[in-house]
Amino acid sequence: MKITDIMAYQIFDSRGNPTLEVQVTLENGIQGHGLVPSGASTGQFEALELRDGDPAKYRGKSVFHAIANVTGEIAPHLRGHDVFAQRELDKALIALDGTENKSRLGANAILGVSLAAVDAAARCRALPIFEYLAAGQSVTLPLPEIQIIGGGLHANRAIDIQDIMVMAIGARSYEEALEITHNIYHATGDLLTERKQRCGIADEGGFWPHVKTNAQALELCLAGIERAGYTPGVEAALSLDIAASDLYDEKNKCYQFKLESRTFDSAGFCAMMTDWCHRYPIVALEDPAADIDLAGWAMIQHELGKTVTIIGDDLFVTNAARIRQGIKDNLANAVLIKLNQIGTVSETLNAIKLTHDADWLPVVSARSGETEDAFIAHLAVATNAPILKVGSFARSERMVKWNELLRISNFLGSKVNFRSASSLLRSGMAQK
Ligand code: PGA
Ligand code: ZN
Repeated sequence: MKITDIMAYQIFDSRGNPTLEVQVTLENGIQGHGLVPSGASTGQFEALELRDGDPAKYRGKSVFHAIANVTGEIAPHLRGHDVFAQRELDKALIALDGTENKSRLGANAILGVSLAAVDAAARCRALPIFEYLAAGQSVTLPLPEIQIIGGGLHANRAIDIQDIMVMAIGARSYEEALEITHNIYHATGDLLTERKQRCGIADEGGFWPHVKTNAQALELCLAGIERAGYTPGVEAALSLDIAASDLYDEKNKCYQFKLESRTFDSAGFCAMMTDWCHRYPIVALEDPAADIDLAGWAMIQHELGKTVTIIGDDLFVTNAARIRQGIKDNLANAVLIKLNQIGTVSETLNAIKLTHDADWLPVVSARSGETEDAFIAHLAVATNAPILKVGSFARSERMVKWNELLRISNFLGSKVNFRSASSLLRSGMAQK
């Protein structure tokens, strides 16, 4: 089935910033769309998001060059291409760009086309995207990792830690995991209101609290779990995205907790998180060290990797070469997967496969700037990713993903498989 046209136009993400939507048209008239997300705490090794940088236009954030690259260069190049040959299509995009980090055409332009092609192909076969991507393999609904409190660059550094999340480790179904999380999210909100500590919500929908220390924010989330009627570590456990690259002072090789006016060297930072993991029911730590502090990563993985899921986000940036090196050096045991960090669907699938093959956990993730698109829910199901991270349990750009999984669950009916925490023994979650 041939692609006859590709076009793109500017839309806006959940922060109200410009991004692009790509539309692929097939010879039978069927159209597919790709909506591109955008990060705020981006890793320095990510593929390049092309923005116009003209302060007079959308405060420098417009994406008209990326759009022109889609319509002017990519469209003529891919016209006539078979939409079902996704790997060849993605290869053609990579070759046309010709740079290591997709900086010529822009990873946002390239990803929009790659996503739109998958959407068009699935529509052409009249299949949901997850079934098209799974190509006959069995599928599993992931365990949601849901933000309760937001901080870091998503909340003007109100707290230093970027995401304080819960995983409903006691849930036996996806629906039960959402029910538990719903109860905890609202109970935590009630607590914050009562204590007059509620400042609003952060970029991904979690509460933006007024607290004096990062540990207080963790304790608040634990109190929310209890207020909702659960036992921390039984029905629900904590997971944290430290986003440590944003806390790292490269010159002085130290981590800074601005909220507490504290500074740590790598060993001190590792010791503090180890202490947290002993004191609190924490099942996963994402980016506990900066992307350039490889010794810090090795230390944390050595200290905690047997019992805690250690997830590399900025460290790996969904890049197969970086993941392969991390596996070799034993730097973590899980990989955050974000499509726009690498820029094509095929490369993302490669990163997930590599992670699975190493017996590590792929964690499919949204960005802090999201759209109303639910592709990642399908990606997580199709690839049997054990965990899906989308942000909080509020705001439609987040809920559209959680709701899409409810639709998929309903669609699968009695055939549904759910990745309960008991099947995540590799990470030690079930022993907690
Ligand atoms: P980002 O945040 O999309 O702003 O990078 C998400 C994350 O760090 O996991
Ligand atoms: Zn992260």
